Amino acid sequence: MNDPQPNALAAMLQRSAAERVFNFSAGPAALPTEVLQQAAEEMLSWRGTGVSVMEMSHRSKEFESIHQQALADLRELLAVPDNYRILFLQGGAIGENAIVPLNLMGRLDPQQPKADFVITGSWSVKTEQEGRRYGQTHIAADGKAGRYLSIPDAAYWNLSDDAAYVHLCTNETIGGVEFQQVPEIGQRAGRVVVADASSHILSRPVDWSRIQVLYAGAQKNIGPAGVTIVIVREDLLGHAHPLCPSAFNWRVVNEHNSMFNTPPTYTIYIAGLVFQWLKRQGGIDGIEQRNIAKAKALYDYLDQSAFYRNEVDPSCRSRMNVPFFLADESRNEAFLAGARANGLLQLKGHKSVGGMRASIYNAMPLDGVSALIEYMREFERNAA
Ligand SMILES: Cc1ncc(COP(=O)(O)O)c(C=O)c1O
Repeated sequence: MNDPQPNALAAMLQRSAAERVFNFSAGPAALPTEVLQQAAEEMLSWRGTGVSVMEMSHRSKEFESIHQQALADLRELLAVPDNYRILFLQGGAIGENAIVPLNLMGRLDPQQPKADFVITGSWSVKTEQEGRRYGQTHIAADGKAGRYLSIPDAAYWNLSDDAAYVHLCTNETIGGVEFQQVPEIGQRAGRVVVADASSHILSRPVDWSRIQVLYAGAQKNIGPAGVTIVIVREDLLGHAHPLCPSAFNWRVVNEHNSMFNTPPTYTIYIAGLVFQWLKRQGGIDGIEQRNIAKAKALYDYLDQSAFYRNEVDPSCRSRMNVPFFLADESRNEAFLAGARANGLLQLKGHKSVGGMRASIYNAMPLDGVSALIEYMREFERNAA
């Protein structure tokens, strides 16, 4: 066996910890430093096994314990009801844009698959477009006329009676629009609501009486990219199209406890560490309070400033993704360069929107948001 030189490794770890900055990336996004440190400590040998988690058989009792613990912690954190199954898949949220229709669009009529879509920004636009490949899509509401700066009032959604489900993106990562509450449509007429919660899962509680399927890619609030979480009410399993790949058939994946094929083991392990970290933060209630405080500090600062602006309707501003613009856009590059020099990274807005975007997911501490506000204040002062 090679000597892993523990002192050299500890020094390296210390050096890289000291280099860490505030990372406002929309995704893959910042992870809690504590989690990365624990993963580093366990990298070469997981708890006396002599092997890294990356090198373990997914069928080993060690990995089985990691997997079961992650599932149990996620269920506890999100208070997932007993009649909902938690699946670990691959393919990301864009994969789910096809996997959801393949599993669910023929639920009411396999010959005429149909689903409703509420369009609130770039991600729900993409979801509806992909859905067209699998059946009839009906746009129940579209915020386009209002430049996706607000969520169309649910009282006016034009829902179909024959749609297998209604799809929502509950946090639009690019536009910065978030449902503060999912409207009560799921129970009426046995409607099924499917939510893409990729960019705000685990940041606030989920009202399971209003959501029957929730999915999320990992790389914002869960862990590294590679695992896709699907939480589905169990009576909705078993409606898949015959051509749905077995590895993406929710019923098959559920029957194999997410081990139908080799799962992304290391990602699940890191996600499990993130879940444990969240429990140490006081669970979802604890982290939600922190998220409210962070978002309030940033929006309050933006609202009192004439130098910066956020355009989203205050009733649906995202707690996770805060797009903002400088009144004088010719200063954008200088703003970003100065931010980088101050250890504030990845603030450039999405190319379809321009301007800036601060993604302040669970792992971003209040100190990071305060440092950003301080820098913004300083930049404005220097520009005067
Ligand atoms: C809300 C939302 N949906 C879907 C996606 C696409 O996820 P992926 O690239 O993991 O497929 C993203 C990614 O950034 C997202 O924010």
